[in-house]
Amino acid sequence: MTNATPRPLRLDALAYGGDYNPDQWPEEVWHEDVRLMREAGVNLVSLPVFSWPQLEVSPGEYDWAWLDRVIEVLWAGGIRIDLATATATPPAWLVRSHPEMLPWDADGRRLEFGSRQAYCPSSPVWREHVARMARAMAERYGEHPAVVLWHVSNEYGDHVARCWCPESAAHFRRWLEEHYRDLDGLNEAWGVNVWGQRYTAWEQVEPPRRATGPVNPTQLLDFERFSSDALLELFRIEVDVLRDVTPDLPVTTNFMSLFRELDYWRFAEIEDLVTDDAYPDPADPHAHVPAALNYGLMRSLKGGRPWLLLEQAASAVSWRAVNVPKAPGRMRVDSLQAIAHGSDGAMFFQWRQARYGQEKFHSAMLGHRGEQSRTFRETAAFGRELQRLAAVKGARVRSRVALVVDWDSWWGSSATESLPSQRLGWLAQARAWHGALHALGHAVDAVRASGPFDGYDLVLVPNLYVTDDAQAAALEAFAASGGTVVVGPFSGVVDPTEKVHPGGAPGPLRGLLGVEVDEPWPVPDGAAEQVELAGDRIDAPVWTEWVEVADEASVVARYATGVLAGRPAVTRRAHGAGGGWYVSAVLADEGLVAIMRRVLDDAGLPARARIDRDLEAVTRADAETDYTFVLNHGAHEIVVDVPEDAEDLLGGGDRTTGRLVLAPLGVVVLATPRAAEPPFITLSETTD
Ligand code: GAL
Repeated sequence: MTNATPRPLRLDALAYGGDYNPDQWPEEVWHEDVRLMREAGVNLVSLPVFSWPQLEVSPGEYDWAWLDRVIEVLWAGGIRIDLATATATPPAWLVRSHPEMLPWDADGRRLEFGSRQAYCPSSPVWREHVARMARAMAERYGEHPAVVLWHVSNEYGDHVARCWCPESAAHFRRWLEEHYRDLDGLNEAWGVNVWGQRYTAWEQVEPPRRATGPVNPTQLLDFERFSSDALLELFRIEVDVLRDVTPDLPVTTNFMSLFRELDYWRFAEIEDLVTDDAYPDPADPHAHVPAALNYGLMRSLKGGRPWLLLEQAASAVSWRAVNVPKAPGRMRVDSLQAIAHGSDGAMFFQWRQARYGQEKFHSAMLGHRGEQSRTFRETAAFGRELQRLAAVKGARVRSRVALVVDWDSWWGSSATESLPSQRLGWLAQARAWHGALHALGHAVDAVRASGPFDGYDLVLVPNLYVTDDAQAAALEAFAASGGTVVVGPFSGVVDPTEKVHPGGAPGPLRGLLGVEVDEPWPVPDGAAEQVELAGDRIDAPVWTEWVEVADEASVVARYATGVLAGRPAVTRRAHGAGGGWYVSAVLADEGLVAIMRRVLDDAGLPARARIDRDLEAVTRADAETDYTFVLNHGAHEIVVDVPEDAEDLLGGGDRTTGRLVLAPLGVVVLATPRAAEPPFITLSETTD
């Protein structure tokens, strides 16, 4: 059930607002809320995310009255609603009458009630009640004109993404039976002859609990797949109910950026709108770089369609060890970054800062000091400013570079400890490769390993540990049609059942890359090997490989130190106008930038000559206009060259002259007629 024609979010402006928890406040406060929301340009709020216990006070006994009134107050104020199905957390009465619905950890301990998400994703009781509650919400409010979006559950897997209870074990066995049909299939797939793990009855098969030693890696990988699927099934139960009652309303569930535990490609298939919660750490001066990768994924999950930043913090969060507030201007540039990357708005957790409970120290649009709070002044000013960007709504990001995000490879290379090295890190690799492209001036989309790759010149594959033939064929076809593919270390290693490909890595990618890996050669902690690229030395601190050129690949860089000295480190195999690069080492950032500069040149794409990682430029476009966001994430001025006579939408019609000084945390949005190539923004060489 993929959702080929998503239902649109009917909102006539960029979305602005936040989570709203009126059940934490007396009714008179609601009226003040709406007055202040209007002042702040709020047009959308999410509620009632955690309110099931306040709505169904005892089994079958509903108290809708307060929510009826809240919705009327919001509607009268012109505020639209992203209506939650209120199934993010169960009421105590449900848990206490069905304690078997509580999740278990890998040690077999039951997790208690007292926080949120206190449910096992496979629990039939929970599933039945969730469907009932979603239907009750849809039947009561689905026709209300204020409701423009369904918000299903909340951040699936945030607290409980894996469950080891008996119900999950039974569900896991059913899942395995569907995949492998019989025990012979399972035994073959799991390679049970190693360490004597043959199963002779389904009842013997368990989820991978804590065991005597390293657990079967295919069992671990299948448990990751199963657990993601179990939450996907849960999501689908609500989606089906909502589509049944309100077939025209769009449906979303809020994602958590690049979240390891769930395969978001599959979740996005069944929703109408991708929404994301993003909390870049204000204490990290480079947090905007991984944020850009997260947003690249979000826009790509539904083929480039706009998505929506549904949660971010106005200032500090309250769940890190140290929660640093956002400096003045940081919330604005963070929000504009998400919009630059295709979000049709910027929303917050939450509207009004709580006075009690787990999140009372989490910032909000309206802080504890109310109208006087800095967050209110800043978010209200930004809400008004956002109206200048109305034209951007619906426009799509223009990117020529895509990075493969593959959950199987992420899980496979991290679920087991039985690896050449535990230091490779799928996410770290993806971030490092993306970081190099960011530094060189490119916004990067995400793609599946099987494509489609239409519209891209360059596809990056930082790690594809699990590779099947179809993926390899798709990547090779892209190269043969003139595209450039770059593959990173420890790719093409195993098939989907975690069996090493015949002949070893890169397995089915051998035709694309023209190399063979004799052995991975991980670098011990604290040591670093080096690679030589055109006379320069590049550090390889984590991972190297013994690579043999097998088939017409040319050597771009060689190892310069250690046992591998003189052997190929980076190679390129030509495919007509395209090429397949292999980077066999984990390279330090500067070295990666040097390699990627060559790759971009090979792909016919521009690169910034000088680098400032605080500078980011992203172009969204509609049929007529390129909207180029130029952002300074840093605390120093940045001078860039921009197209002459570009109109800055945020500057109220100022015309720039080709050279632009961006203040610390400054942003401009340049509107220019849509060109064959979007403007490529570089640091100015003029130094006066
Ligand atoms: C999200 C969650 C919100 C709130 C927020 C705080 O993970 O969806 O309900 O807890 O974090 O940062």
